[in-house]
Amino acid sequence: MSTPRLAIIGGTGLTQLKDLEITRRQVMHTPYGEPSGPLVFGHLNDTEIVFLPRHGARHTIPPHQVNYRANIWALKHAGVDNVIAVAAVGGITDAMRPGMIAIPDQIIDYTWSRASTFFEGGDLEEVTHIDMTWPYHQAVRETLLRAVDDLELDAVDHGTYGATQGPRLETAAEIDRMERDGCDLVGMTGMPETALARELELNYACCAVIANWAAGRSAGEITMDDIAANLNVGMAKVKQVLTHVIHALS
Ligand code: HPA
Repeated sequence: MSTPRLAIIGGTGLTQLKDLEITRRQVMHTPYGEPSGPLVFGHLNDTEIVFLPRHGARHTIPPHQVNYRANIWALKHAGVDNVIAVAAVGGITDAMRPGMIAIPDQIIDYTWSRASTFFEGGDLEEVTHIDMTWPYHQAVRETLLRAVDDLELDAVDHGTYGATQGPRLETAAEIDRMERDGCDLVGMTGMPETALARELELNYACCAVIANWAAGRSAGEITMDDIAANLNVGMAKVKQVLTHVIHALS
């Protein structure tokens, strides 16, 4: 069996890749428990990839209960090098309009009590601190940005992703604070996923889909219907991007 080099982690709105010609599913058992589901192997645009829906195939695992360590460990042991993490987010700053995609370049972590490292426990040889100055893999980001350019998509080429605990959405005051901190986007799954990928030396970047204006950034409440409508628009762009980058990253 050949080993695909690229994994796609699907977020809310991307629990399956419709054009993926599935060749096999593999249940992985990891030292950290079960991943969100079996790894789905298949061909997209004639290229073999692995797909893993972060919230499970039926979208039932909430962000704070995703087993991020098991997911990242499973992808690493499936042999992939490159990971594109698709994630639904809220837009905080003006440029981050719903329906657009963004390729963030920074993260601030507001999550708590999630298992957030592989480097702990009794069998540790020495304390390890990974570099996270630039949390996303620059070459994978650039590949995504080239695709966005080639496809002439309306997308933002940077942004600081603020990772919140969820599953509730934020208060307007929390979003104001996050903006003062420098956040452009808010989502619930960017951490610890990004840090764990770095710990296992995966080349990981995020393709964020802006599903709504963050709390207090538009009149009225955030509704699930609005989120679903914007995700539909954004995910169509994501699928174009994924199909376009697959050769370069596989
Ligand atoms: N906040 C946090 N996570 C999100 C949001 C939001 O507004 N929209 C989509 N994911």
